Amino acid sequence: MYTLGFDASTQSFSAIVIDPAEGIIIAEHTINFGKHLPQYNSPQGFIQSGSGKEVHSDPCMWLDALELLLEDLAKLCDLSKVSAISGAGQQHGSVYLNSEWNKILPVLHTNASLSVQLRPCLSRSTSPIWMDGSTSRECSEISENVGSNQEVCNKSGSITIERFTGPQIRRFSKIDPLGYQKTERIHLVSSFICSILCGTDAPIDTGDGAGMNLLNLENWDWDPMLLDATAPELMQKLPAVKDGSTICGQIAPYFVEKFGFQEATPITIFTGDNPSSLVGMGASQPGKVVISLGTSDTVFAAMPATVSDPDGCGHVFGNPSGGSMSLQCFINGSLARESVKDKFHFDWDQFTSALTRTKPGNEGAVMLPFFRPEISPRINLKKPILSGSRDFKLWSTPESNIRACVEGQFLNMKRSTQWMQLTPETIYLTGGASTNDAIAQILADIFQAKVQRLAVSGSVALGGALRAAVNSLKIPLEDLESKFCQPDAGSTLDPQDNVEAYQLTEERFAALITKASSK
Ligand code: XUL
Repeated sequence: MYTLGFDASTQSFSAIVIDPAEGIIIAEHTINFGKHLPQYNSPQGFIQSGSGKEVHSDPCMWLDALELLLEDLAKLCDLSKVSAISGAGQQHGSVYLNSEWNKILPVLHTNASLSVQLRPCLSRSTSPIWMDGSTSRECSEISENVGSNQEVCNKSGSITIERFTGPQIRRFSKIDPLGYQKTERIHLVSSFICSILCGTDAPIDTGDGAGMNLLNLENWDWDPMLLDATAPELMQKLPAVKDGSTICGQIAPYFVEKFGFQEATPITIFTGDNPSSLVGMGASQPGKVVISLGTSDTVFAAMPATVSDPDGCGHVFGNPSGGSMSLQCFINGSLARESVKDKFHFDWDQFTSALTRTKPGNEGAVMLPFFRPEISPRINLKKPILSGSRDFKLWSTPESNIRACVEGQFLNMKRSTQWMQLTPETIYLTGGASTNDAIAQILADIFQAKVQRLAVSGSVALGGALRAAVNSLKIPLEDLESKFCQPDAGSTLDPQDNVEAYQLTEERFAALITKASSK
């Protein structure tokens, strides 16, 4: 018996098929939007022509990708052996549907593609995604309507955030009131894809739902005050909220006929990509922290108790395995590391060797490594601030400047995530830069925690396959974690005793942050 997990992400749509009892991966496949669907003019998964910080994608592109993905997957394995399905989507993105949705969805037929049948259901032809920053005005309006941003944060776990779905919905209701009026259902990417697979309107889970500025964390349900502050008649346009253990339907006849699934295959509610990754990394229980070093860097963890960030920079989402999770995004991730590398015309080997040839603590030389406005903490910089020797400040000490960038990023992560109340013994490191031992060692030293890299690559899709196995096949998550979420052999790094070396650096870094924040 197999289970199948999906990952509908920004640049691609992936799937993994596993045999949960045997602990083996049966098949993995990815459709890249830019490469496989060039007709959508979205080489990186979003429409290039967005203006005024708008970043949208065409939901029909996701549907075409789903079909290509399943076509290929059916060649790689026997989909009739799949006994349970779940998955995840990029967070915050929203799909706007009219009254046709509930008529067409239950009667999808295989004489035409999903996108051809479902395009007439869209009341907004494109979907704003998480990279969209066009809603600053709506964020202020919502917090004013509620009373204060602190109140929005107390209720929903985050202050109003441009990419979050509530402010996006408000903007649509203002710029296209008629389109908004015709909208009968608003889905997240996760619940939209889940609905299509089920052939019925699916609920939103607490993990992805909390990324909307609309959900109250006390009862994990829509908050009438937040809804009223956002847009008219919003309650009736939203699906129900359910927790991550909900089985919300069975595979639609469309997929049985076209791709050979077994009839009545159960589908577990979909979640956001980060909550799903928490499961796929084996970090569903408090005590483990995941740090992803990607385009932007992300820190997330299961929460021992639900608290929100008093500075309003972090977020609280539902944990698909129960309780809640914290998440914090650092915009200056790999792009900042790359900018420092490029400043010296170095390659990555030279960058790494600079890290190994310099000392922990960098002899007190520190950097706020922000090449663009940072969101954690909110500091409006366009270039880094340096403190140290004259040569260091003039960028004439390549090795020391490179160490200061990486140390600055991790010192900032440690400071900014204190509200999460974590004392991690082990940090699970993932994402592009995670394989670099020199970077990983600095992380271990600054957090004084062990750093492990896991053997899994696609933790988001894997999280879906594991959740399906737990919910439908009743296999305990601990058993699955011991089979699928193991450290890569020889990849564990222990912290070195550098506490003293970092004391002065930490103090200097704190002073720089305070100075920059007050500007
Ligand atoms: C999290 C966030 C991104 C998206 C896309 O708040 O915006 O991580 O989920 O991956």
